[in-house]
Amino acid sequence: MGLQDVDGFLEHLRSAVGAANVLTDESDLAPYVVDARRRYRGGALCVARPATTAQVSQVLTLCHEAGVAVVPQGGNTGMCGGATPRAERDSVVLALGRMNRVRAVDPLNNTIAVDAGCTLAAVQAEAAAVGRLFPMSLGSEGSCQIGGNIATNAGGTAVLRYGPMRDLVLGVEAVMPDGRVVNAMKALRKDNTGYALKHLFVGSEGTLGVITGAVLKLFAKPASDAVAMVGLDDIDAALALLHHVQARAGSRLTNFEVISAGEYELVMSLPKGLRDPLAARHPWVAIVELTDADPAAPLGDELAAIVHDAMERGLGRDATLAASKAQAELIWEIRHSVTEANVNAGLTFSHDTAVPVSRVPDFVRGVERLVAERFPAAKPVFVGHVGDGNIHAVIVLPREAASTPAETDALAAAVNATIDEVTLSLDGSISAEHGIGRSNRRRLSAYLDPADLALMQGIKALFDPKGLMNPGVLL
Ligand code: FAD
Ligand code: LAC
Ligand code: ZN
Repeated sequence: MGLQDVDGFLEHLRSAVGAANVLTDESDLAPYVVDARRRYRGGALCVARPATTAQVSQVLTLCHEAGVAVVPQGGNTGMCGGATPRAERDSVVLALGRMNRVRAVDPLNNTIAVDAGCTLAAVQAEAAAVGRLFPMSLGSEGSCQIGGNIATNAGGTAVLRYGPMRDLVLGVEAVMPDGRVVNAMKALRKDNTGYALKHLFVGSEGTLGVITGAVLKLFAKPASDAVAMVGLDDIDAALALLHHVQARAGSRLTNFEVISAGEYELVMSLPKGLRDPLAARHPWVAIVELTDADPAAPLGDELAAIVHDAMERGLGRDATLAASKAQAELIWEIRHSVTEANVNAGLTFSHDTAVPVSRVPDFVRGVERLVAERFPAAKPVFVGHVGDGNIHAVIVLPREAASTPAETDALAAAVNATIDEVTLSLDGSISAEHGIGRSNRRRLSAYLDPADLALMQGIKALFDPKGLMNPGVLL
């Protein structure tokens, strides 16, 4: 596009969304062109901040006519650089934060309809206000948005009981790259009218269109809960404890997370000085939470008895049951501080592996063995959602292990290939909940069956024949 064309294009955008909502100054663009982990820095023609679906449609129509690429951006908390534009300053970042209306709440239908730019925390609060629960729970919930949660098919700590975002979405509204609006905002639990188009947008990472609205499932609000931290000998004990709690608590088991000693140490070394709920350190800890909609459910006693029996059977070394809301919050703060701790730890390469739950111990041991053989200076630490078979292996190296971006990239590729080798040997997936983004694109083409990849490319071409939606991400 020539200079004059750029000026004309920006002028059209300003009339679509208002001059104040087209950002072009370098300092205004800065927070939108770098990813949450500061691994990617890009550039953009501008940031457009529409407030309605009609405005999103106008922006996309203008970009389509001008052949300008579009990068949808929610809370910009994603782990794979998917919301960061390329370095060439040739795309529009479409930021959805102004689209933050709650459209309708229907407690009897257990649904909420929202704009895609609502933060996850705002939707949780809106549900709580009508005595319901929106169960998705992520460390980033104060800033990530529903559109981003859908586009990444986010997981988090409550998947064990309520499923990932795909299970929580009943309806979607999205704008196609040419400006057409797909209205699938149905608040239905059953609907067999052809292909489920809404599911194509779940996990699409901004490559098929812009999600502008969603109908989400609500659940009974927990009125009682109990949280425990249990010190464990090894990862096998975590699986045994999981099954012990599942057998006793059934669907009241809401969270079951594990943290290895190395990761725990990183969290406890954070300058904010978290207090250790356990008297001593253990090779692994599990965080177990039961919830119930019945305010009189004696969950504290129940969890105490379950954990006591587990210790008798040798499944745990030590345990603390949170005696107050503050103690429960401390346990959860420890869990939710892992990302912050990893950023501070040195040169870290995080992975987002899923394996069958029964193979989690094989995964952990396989990673420990291969990393020790191939990267003697590295320390593998682990955190994750063991009940979903989703373990984040974080490989921590000294910062001096790579001194240039090219060296860092080469090291990352070698480390990733090692983890993927273990993952594939266990029939696992290289991305359980974070997505592909920019970081994992090359790994995806090595991982996918060529027939699957070709079908995905066909779907992409159908939705986005000009290839304008989030180029360089996912495919
Ligand atoms: P962004 O980062 O803005 O975007 C992510 C991707 O979605 C990009 O490809 C973008 O183009 C696309 N996108 C965003 N909005 C739209 C839209 N409206 N339409 C179309 N495409 C769109 N993730 C987990 O799954 N589990 C966790 O436990 C977890 N914990 C986290 C903890 C911390 C502290 C942090 C920082 C992140 C964590 N994440 C976790 C990752 C992240 O929060 C999630 O991936 C989240 O779903 C991203 O939402 P977002 O609005 O920030 O999306
Ligand atoms: C977590 C993010 C990293 O589980 O997915 O903390
Ligand atoms: Zn996770």
